[in-house]
Amino acid sequence: MEVVICSSAEQIGAHVADVYAEVLRGDDPVIGLATGSSPLVAYGELIRRHREDGLSFAHATAFLLDEYAGLARSHPESYHAVIRRELVDHVDIDPARVHSPDGEAHDLAEECRRYDAAIEAVGGVDVQLLGIGTDGHIGFNEPMSSLSSRTRPKTLTQQTREDNARFFDSIDDVPHHVLTQGLGTIRTAHHLLLVATGAGKADAVAAAVEGPLAARCPASILQLHPHATVFVDEAAASGLE
Ligand code: F6R
Repeated sequence: MEVVICSSAEQIGAHVADVYAEVLRGDDPVIGLATGSSPLVAYGELIRRHREDGLSFAHATAFLLDEYAGLARSHPESYHAVIRRELVDHVDIDPARVHSPDGEAHDLAEECRRYDAAIEAVGGVDVQLLGIGTDGHIGFNEPMSSLSSRTRPKTLTQQTREDNARFFDSIDDVPHHVLTQGLGTIRTAHHLLLVATGAGKADAVAAAVEGPLAARCPASILQLHPHATVFVDEAAASGLE
C-alpha cells in the first residue's frame, strides 16, 4: 500500500484525477465511484479537465459503491441522484452506463447478486475511489462486516446515520438500510484509491493503514490489496506513526 500525504484537498483531487484520466484514456474503462464529501474535489477536477482539456468519459462504464434501500431514485439524496448531480451531468459519460444498486428492487438480495454479476461481466472495476467512515467503514461495510462479503443489504450503524444526517432534513429521514458492494467485491477492483481529509478521519486512517487486518476496521482490507493508494491530508495522517 502506498500512502501519500498531501498539503491540501485540492492536491488530493489532482492526484485522484491523474489516476482516473489514465484509466479513461485506456480501452473500455470501468470506473468505480463513491459518494459522500470526500470525492467532491476530485470530481470537480475531473469536470474541469473534461471542460478545459477534453478529458472524455465517452467510453466509460461506471459502478457506484452503494445505495440507500427504500429511497426512490428520484429522491435528491439517493446516490443515483447524487452522482448525477456531482459528476455524471457535467461530463460526457452515457448515464445509462452509470450503474448503482436498485434500492427499490422488490428482491434486494437478488438485486445485489445481479449487481455483483454485472461488475464481473465487464471484467471488474479498473479503479475504485473510496472514502472512509469515522468508524473505518468503506462502502457501507460497517465494522464486523465479513472480509470476503459480496454486494448485499446491510443495516447502518447509529454512528453512520448521524454522520449522514447532514444530507437530510433530520436524522429520522436517514434510511436504516442500504445495499453495498461487499469487501470481497471491492477487493476485485484492480486499483483502490482511498481519500480522507481532516482530523476526524485520523483514527480511522491509522487503523486502516497501520492497525491489524480486521473486520473491526473494514478499510484495513486495503492492506491485502496488491495495488492500493491512500491519499490523505496532514490532519487525516496525524494518527500515523
Ligand atoms: C459513500 C460511501 C461511504 C463514504 C464514507 C465517508 O458512497 O461509500 O463509505 O465514503 O461514509 O463519507 P464522507 O466522504 O462524506 O466523509
